[in-house]
Amino acid sequence: MSLFRDPPHLPLVAPSILSADFMRMGDEARSALAAGGDLLHVDVMDGHFVPNLTMGPDMVKGLRRLLPDAFLDIHLMIEKPDQFAKPFIDAGASHLTFHAEVVTPEQARALADHIRDLGASVGLALNPPTLAKDWSGVLPHFDLILVMSIFPGFSGQKFMPEVLPKVSELRGMLRHDQRLEMDGGLTLETAPWCRAAGCDVLAAASAIFGAPTTKRADIIGLLRG
Ligand code: DX5
Ligand code: ZN
Repeated sequence: MSLFRDPPHLPLVAPSILSADFMRMGDEARSALAAGGDLLHVDVMDGHFVPNLTMGPDMVKGLRRLLPDAFLDIHLMIEKPDQFAKPFIDAGASHLTFHAEVVTPEQARALADHIRDLGASVGLALNPPTLAKDWSGVLPHFDLILVMSIFPGFSGQKFMPEVLPKVSELRGMLRHDQRLEMDGGLTLETAPWCRAAGCDVLAAASAIFGAPTTKRADIIGLLRG
């Protein structure tokens, strides 16, 4: 049973723990779910595919131990996703999204099958310049397509509205049981644009964790619309 394949409602709001207080990660993760977050978005960076380093399987293992029922959406911004699929799923990942820019379409399809065989759902992420039409042949093999609305690497960047036509194009290419996630620069101003274009999973880091804990439930509600 996958939250992305059988969502109780749409859109889903995915608090991205990249902007959480890392010294208080357990409390931050738990409070984002208590405030109405549907899942946790976990940004994994390797210092090669993106110019930043973040977290690895041990963080996922800790989150899974603390939050046995949480849906953990792992966004792999790494050059070698095939090497890390099993370690992250063994650690407790519910879902893995890897980037189109590091694979061929044939490799994407094989890795999607491998991730599903290991028991997780699977997504394909497209950076701002990456075209939907170049990946149309493999889209049916994914539970989710993630459109980056910033260049990945850091939270707190400005939303790139030029990716919105790609979202609408992708919505027309996907089945009803496939999710379309937007990631980067989501705010109370930009989230409605994403929903209108067809996104049904909204990842947000600074908009949620940049606000005081007491305001997060309101913000998550407004992001959901
Ligand atoms: C960036 C990450 C995003 C990031 C979003 O590379 O993939 O998930 O956490 O941060 P905000 O919402 O602050 O733009
Ligand atoms: Zn992300």
